[in-house]
Parts: sequence; structure tokens; C-alpha cells
Amino acid sequence: MNAVANPQPDIELNAPDWVRHEGLKAWVAEIAALTQPDRIEWCDGSEEEYDRLSELMVQAGTLRRLNPEKRPNSYLAWSDPSDVARVEDRTFVCSAKREDAGPTNNWVDPAEMRQTLNGLFAGSMRGRTLYVVPFSMGPLGSPIAHIGIELTDSPYVVTNMRLMTRMGRKVYDVLGTNGEFVPCIHSVGAPLQPGQADVAWPCNSTKYIVHYPETREIWSFGSGYGGNALLGKKCLALRIASKMGRDQGWLAEHMLILGVTSPDGQKRHVAAAFPSACGKTNFAMLIPPAALPGWKITTIGDDIAWIKPGADGRLYAINPEAGYFGVAPGTNDKTNRNCMDTLRENVIFTNVALTDDGDVWWEGMGPEPAHCIDWQGNDWTPGCGRKAAHPNARFTVSAQQNPAIDPEWDNPAGVPIDAFLFGGRRSTTVPLVTEARNWLEGVYMAATLGSETTAAAMGAQGVVRRDPFAMLPFCGYNMSEYFSHWLELGRQLEANGARLPRIYCVNWFQTDDNGKFIWPGFGDNMRVLKWMLERIEGQAGGVDNVFGVTPNFDDLAWDGLDFPREQFERITRIDVQAWRDELGLHEELFIKLEHGLPAELRDVKQALEQRLQN
Ligand code: GTP
Ligand code: SPV
Ligand code: MN
Repeated sequence: MNAVANPQPDIELNAPDWVRHEGLKAWVAEIAALTQPDRIEWCDGSEEEYDRLSELMVQAGTLRRLNPEKRPNSYLAWSDPSDVARVEDRTFVCSAKREDAGPTNNWVDPAEMRQTLNGLFAGSMRGRTLYVVPFSMGPLGSPIAHIGIELTDSPYVVTNMRLMTRMGRKVYDVLGTNGEFVPCIHSVGAPLQPGQADVAWPCNSTKYIVHYPETREIWSFGSGYGGNALLGKKCLALRIASKMGRDQGWLAEHMLILGVTSPDGQKRHVAAAFPSACGKTNFAMLIPPAALPGWKITTIGDDIAWIKPGADGRLYAINPEAGYFGVAPGTNDKTNRNCMDTLRENVIFTNVALTDDGDVWWEGMGPEPAHCIDWQGNDWTPGCGRKAAHPNARFTVSAQQNPAIDPEWDNPAGVPIDAFLFGGRRSTTVPLVTEARNWLEGVYMAATLGSETTAAAMGAQGVVRRDPFAMLPFCGYNMSEYFSHWLELGRQLEANGARLPRIYCVNWFQTDDNGKFIWPGFGDNMRVLKWMLERIEGQAGGVDNVFGVTPNFDDLAWDGLDFPREQFERITRIDVQAWRDELGLHEELFIKLEHGLPAELRDVKQALEQRLQN
């Protein structure tokens, strides 16, 4: 192939003596022979390494150092305008059999895909450095953690991985001479000819984000952005891990995890699945309204949860990540003060605007600056008609900087889950909150979750699509089988006499006739959370509707908030015609997922139709 057509001298492996895993070394040598980098660098995760690579990227124009007075030790990256989000239509689950990937995943025969990728990766790292990035998803050395090794030609990936995961030399102590790891291969797909100048954000218009679930391998080509490139996150901790969980009896979910302490000191834990850019980070860092004293929220995780049954039959969740790759636009001192405090220093910002005093700005951060440089490097002034930050602009920051971090966030035993929430972005139809009457109804709610699409994924925006469990782009196997897995787990826990977590469906996003959000959201979501917890204690009322149980106006605490009763009625009522249409969309989903769809879900739907009829 290309590599042969243009042969290069052997690349020095350069493995340090603290890497004692011969299989790993052989694999790195093999990938280097394929991709032909100029050199190999074995990352140790040190601060020195982080600073050196950051400086290298400043020199290359990839990063801008922010004003150290305003934003100490922080950087700003502007990506290529064609490389700003996950590419779902270029994401593949290449299981041996097509039906194991299921109708919601792109599938290509693994042999064919390997051939395509071998062609693309051949010589793809020429003129660049291949970085070997060891990382652990989950606390280092804990029995629930999984190790990945990412080979990448992007220094931006290296520094981001250091903030997002437990990355560095210690991983090799755990790995020893023959430990297991998930091989992750990443190339921006922009080889350099001798003497060719680099660009600030190298990438390729051809993109492939590929998973081989059976052999647990990840190959990513052409993108340097977020979930496409930081392979521990969506690729390993969701797509590969969801398949592992299916095989081993646990769950890998697109969920935040939070602790909530009530005024009487009782602590409970909630895991919530909202699709991308639908409020997980915000909910995980929620600050309760001052008018509800004594309530406290602490963050365990903001994006991914690994959930396993414990010896006591309850479900325990850990956050496999160690940092946040969060949406910047809309974040401010009112919507999320904890997040703003987290972002004071040691941050990598991507695709936000640069202010004249060397700090960052984004839409919804606060007062508009009179002038700044937008994410594409152009002058920006208020009213110029363009956004200063890309709508999917993000920050990368270590979780340890979160002032609301939960003391148990790093505990390998995890925290016991009392409730699951599922919610999408729906401007109509779906009530503020509904409690499922049982596990099966809850699984139905989650399976039929719909959401208006956002800038977090390349493609159409603002159209309602079904996003089962907020896992549509992240489930590494057949979605119907995934539903069965949830139902089976519920049956198993119940058989062991465990009290199952309650399941709720929420929607913070109904809009009025002018397109404005009706529900204040953010900190005021505490009012809804409080109701849920009181329901679990058997202390709060509610009314039965077609879909489940919703609160009456007087079941929520309204201290400090003047929210009109008729607005509440509007966002909690069930509109019969809208729900007939909604059930029609559930039917479309069920037809798509027909093969292997659990029959119980159809039964629930029939019961809903019956209730709607009456
Ligand atoms: P991913 O990182 O893509 O998985 O997203 P996420 O679910 O963590 O979303 P995030 O919390 O970053 O929120 C995305 C956007 O939704 C931000 O612009 C927030 O300001 C906005 N948002 C979050 N919570 C609320 C809410 O309660 N109400 C309203 N109206 N907007 C919200
Ligand atoms: C998401 O899109 O759900 C994210 C951002 O959390 S990314 O890591 O880019 O996938
Ligand atoms: Mn996410």
C-alpha cells in the first residue's frame, strides 16, 4: 500500500524502561510502521509534558495562551470550521454481524472496514509525532476501571486527555507486563511532506470513527475534535463499554451522577440521561435556590456513568472520567456558578471567542464585549449578525476544580442510585416531570425519549428525533437488545428483593408562543428534584395521568419563585392530540427496532393508547 510505495527508514520505538508490556510495544511498533510518524513519544502525564506540549501548540498556532491575570494557565483553540462536533454519520460499529450493531448504528463488514482504514492510516502520521497516551477510565487500579492506550498524532488530544482521564505513567504500573487494554488509534489524517508547513488545526475531510466491539478496538481518522478524538469518552466509555456491560451484566450510560442532600442531612443519588447539550453538566452542578435552604447538590459525574449491581442488590454508579468537556454557550454566573468557578484557571477552551484583554467570551456568558475575535478569527462586534462562539464551543477542565465535587466522586465502589431521570429538549408535548409507575413503564419512557437536535452533533438542528436513553449515538450494539438488557437487569434486581430506583421523565424546555422557555430551569430544577425525592419517601402527592404521575401545582415548593399556576398547568398537562401524534412516533421507532424488540414495550404502548382513548 502507500506505506510501501514510499518507504521510510524504521522508526525508533523509543520505549522507556517503565513500559514493560511487550505486547503493547509490539502493537505500537506495528501502528508506527503503518502510519509512519517521524518519531514516537511515550507520554508520562507529567506537568512538564503538559506545559511543553502546550507551548509547542502555541508555537504552531493551535493554541493561544490566555491572559494569565484573567485566566491563569489556560489556552484557547480554534478548530477548523469543518471540525466542530461529533460526526454521527461517520461513526461505525463494525461487529462481525450487522444485526449485532442494529438499525441505529452505521455498520460495515469489519474485514472491509479494516481494508479501508489500513489504506487511510498508511503514512497518515508522516511529518508528525505519534504520542502514546496511557489512560484509565475509572479510578486507577480499581477492579471496575478499564485501561485504554490511545496512539495519536495530535498534541491537543494529549493535553485534553490529561484533563479528562487518569492519564500517565501510573497506568503502566497497573498494566504490568501483560495487562489488558483497549487499543485506540487516532490520526487527524493530515500527513506532512518534508518541508510542508503545518496548519493550526490539521484534519481531513474524510472522517471515520470506528469501533470493533468484539475485539474491543477503536480507530478514529480525520477529526481532532471532542468525542471524535478523545477516545476514552464516547468511544471507549460508552460504545465499547456498553457492549462489555451487556456481556457482563452492567450498564454504561450517557448520564450525569449527582448527590443530593436534604435539609435533614439525608443523602441520595440520582443519575440522569439527557441527550448531548441538553443540560447534564448544568444539572450535575446545580445550585439550589436560596429560598430552599438546606438542600445541597454535589457532582459525581457530568456525562458518563458506569452502573453495576452491588452485593446488596442495589445499583452503584461511578464516573469513569476525571474531567469535563462541557458546552460553554449559555454558561454564566446565574445559570451555573459552580461551573464558572471551575473554569477560573487551568482550562483548555475550544471555539469560544477571544476578548481584547486576552480572556474568553461566549453567547450567554454575560454582557457583550464591544469587540472580540470570534471563533473563526474574525473581528466581532455586537449586532454583527454572527455568533462569537460556536454553539458547540466547549471547555476542558479537571473535575477536581469543581467546588461542588462530591467527596465520593473518586470512590471505586460508586454511589447507590435512588432515581433515574430521562429528559430531552421538547418545546411542546412532554410534561415538566412524570414519574413512571414501575420499572417497565420507566424503561418505556426512556426507550421512546425524543429530543430536538442540537449543535453537539454535525447535521440538522432543532428537529425532534428519537434518542432512546439519550444513547442513540453511543450504544455499541443492537438497541432492542439494549432495551432487553435494562428490563432483564430490573427483573434480576427485583428477584433479589432490591428496591429499584424510581424512573422519571423530565422536560425543562417547553416554550411559549414567542419561543421563550416557560420553565426557569437551572437552579429551579431543584424544585422538581425535591418533589421526586419526596415521592421516593412517600411524602409527596401527584396525579395519575396517561403517561405516569405528575405533581399538582401545590406538590412543588414555590418559595422565592413567582411562577403562575396557569403556566404550570400548561407545562404539565397532557394534550390528547399531541400525545396521539407522539405515540405515532413511538410506533415508527418500534417498527425500526422491531427485530428483537421486547414484547413488554409494545404492551406498555397499547396500555397508553387505551388510556388516551378513555
Ligand atoms: P453534552 O456535554 O453534550 O453531553 O451536554 P450536556 O447534557 O452536559 O449539556 P449542558 O449542561 O452543557 O447544557 C447545554 C446547554 O443547555 C447550555 O447552553 C445550557 O445553558 C442549556 N441548559 C442547561 N440546563 C438548562 C435548563 O434547565 N433550562 C434551559 N432552558 N437551558 C438549559
Ligand atoms: C456529547 O456530544 O454528548 C458530548 C461532547 O459530551 S463529545 O465529547 O464531543 O461527544
Ligand atoms: Mn455527552
